Order: sequence, then structure tokens, then C-alpha cells
Amino acid sequence: MQKFNLTISLEKYDNENELTPIEQQLLAEARKATYKAYAPYSQFHVGAAVLLADGQIIAANNQENAAFPSGSCAEQSAFFWIGANFPNQKIKAVAVIARPGTGDVFRGVPPCGACRQAMLEYENRQQEPIRLMMLGDNNQILITDSIADLLPLRFNEF
Ligand code: THU
Repeated sequence: MQKFNLTISLEKYDNENELTPIEQQLLAEARKATYKAYAPYSQFHVGAAVLLADGQIIAANNQENAAFPSGSCAEQSAFFWIGANFPNQKIKAVAVIARPGTGDVFRGVPPCGACRQAMLEYENRQQEPIRLMMLGDNNQILITDSIADLLPLRFNEF
């Protein structure tokens, strides 16, 4: 028996000013999108903002349902809408952010497992990595180079 480690690398920024203007804009749009979330059950408002190859930014949020599994996470709301409306546009990056409760305090939300798999599908389909931005501790910004980075031992097409 052998043990081995799988590692991923992340970029970490202490300050949003260190990001490129478009990255700053993506985060701002993700924050804004939390205010349109429909999350009456969890009060956990999530915003996702996606940068497309032509420069447009598509933002979406979580949409909950009285039958809990029928709701949609912010990332899936955004990616499925893009898949439906811009099937030929490549996705360059996505920023995800959460705003719990009624205040204006934001926190990081590493995408849930289902969202990772859903986003991976689009990354595989376009054969180009999608950068993922999220908040870390103390409002640091964490960025992975690809969705695949978040899914070691991922399930792929068979
Ligand atoms: N949620 C997201 O929108 N994205 C995630 O990656 C994790 C969770 C939503 C689902 C639900 O509406 C709320 O956050 C609480 O789990």
C-alpha cells in the first residue's frame, strides 16, 4: 500500500485592488447578484458572475423552492442560462460570493460539489479552463485556474 497526496494550487490576494479591473468587476457583479437571490428558506444569498469570451458578464443567483431539491444554486443558474442562450460562447471566468441574512456582509462560498460537476461539464465542453474566483478568510480573494482544480478524482465523460 502506498499513500499519496493530491495537491491543487490557488492564487491568493489580500486586497481586491491587486486584481485586474475585469476581475474586480466580476466580483462586484457577483455581489450585486446576491441582492436578487430568492432564498427565503436558507436566507443564504449567493451570487455568481460569469465572464464570457466576448466580454459580457452574465450574473445569476440561487433560486430556492419549497421542495428543497428543486431549487438552483447560483452557479448552476448562471451556467445553465449561458448554456441555453450562448452555447457557442466560451466562458472565461466565474466569481462566486455569498451574503448570509439581511445585511451587507459578504463571505466566501466555495462551490458545492454538484456545482463543481456542473461547471466542469462546460469547461470540458469548451476545452478551455475557466478561472474561478471566491472569497477566502479575511476577505482575501482565492482564484483557481480551472474548475477541474476543485475536483480531484473527478468524474468525466465516459
Ligand atoms: N448555494 C449556492 O447557490 N451555491 C453553492 O455553491 C452552495 C449553495 C445555495 C443553495 C441554497 O439556496 C443556499 O445556497 C443554501 O445552501
